[in-house]
Amino acid sequence: MNEMLKTILNHRSVRSFSEKPVDGQAVQEIIEAGRHGATSTGQQAFSIIQVTDKAIRSEIAQITGQPYSAEAPLWFLIVLDLHRNAEIVHEQGAYFTGDGDFYTFIQSCMDGAIAAQNMALAAESMGLGICYFGSIFMNIKRIAELVQLPPLTFPLTGLGMGYPKGAFMKKPRLPENVQVFTNQYKVFPDYLDVLKEYDSIMHEYIDSRHPEGPVPPFTVQVMHRNTGPAVQGEEALSLLKKQGFSWAGNE
Ligand SMILES: Cc1cc2nc3c(=O)[nH]c(=O)nc-3n(C[C@H](O)[C@H](O)[C@H](O)COP(=O)(O)O)c2cc1C
Repeated sequence: MNEMLKTILNHRSVRSFSEKPVDGQAVQEIIEAGRHGATSTGQQAFSIIQVTDKAIRSEIAQITGQPYSAEAPLWFLIVLDLHRNAEIVHEQGAYFTGDGDFYTFIQSCMDGAIAAQNMALAAESMGLGICYFGSIFMNIKRIAELVQLPPLTFPLTGLGMGYPKGAFMKKPRLPENVQVFTNQYKVFPDYLDVLKEYDSIMHEYIDSRHPEGPVPPFTVQVMHRNTGPAVQGEEALSLLKKQGFSWAGNE
């Protein structure tokens, strides 16, 4: 197995970081990796904000409710960014229509996700650990304010990284047959049955956030995650409207 595959398959989220700083060249290489991912129609519709300000980092950690966010020596906000391209269009005296185009939005989400994952893999290849922070959505409007996002931008994810402190278990993944298909999607008549073994494998996994015991079976995790109110989604939609994504409607 080559080194790159080893890095990919060895991934686990890291939620405790040593204070050892990451040298400047490594940071630059991680950012370069992010900037060199594939990008839909070459539009590069994302930006990377490295957050170094202690006060902002501390408020972000409070928003996420995850103190290890503040601990990570490096922390990036990956931003969906149509602002730059809209300005490029305006400066040429034309009318930007990307704000009303859901396709552009989805493709730009892809751009941002690819950039983030390129950064994650670059970091992991150097022996760093990474953690995504979707928990920025606990107060996504304040996150946008904190980093002064202009119209037509939207925070996609936080990405913390640094040298790991302690060991982290590798989280088991779904059995391949329920996730990988040939030619046609395969619907299973009874997922609880087909995932029985996976549920018991998951039971051996200890999440570093809850070291007191094993995590619930996968099928129970899915139920817990998908049966609550859509509070964060509503605030995100409201921010999208505020930021001028007209396909989302008006405030
Ligand atoms: C978009 C996204 C958002 C995430 N948000 C968080 C988060 O807010 N806090 C956290 O501790 N982990 C977060 N994670 C990490 C996932 O919990 C983790 O990737 C998943 O449980 C699989 O575990 P593994 O990365 O160790 O394999 C996020 C991952 C992704 C891809």
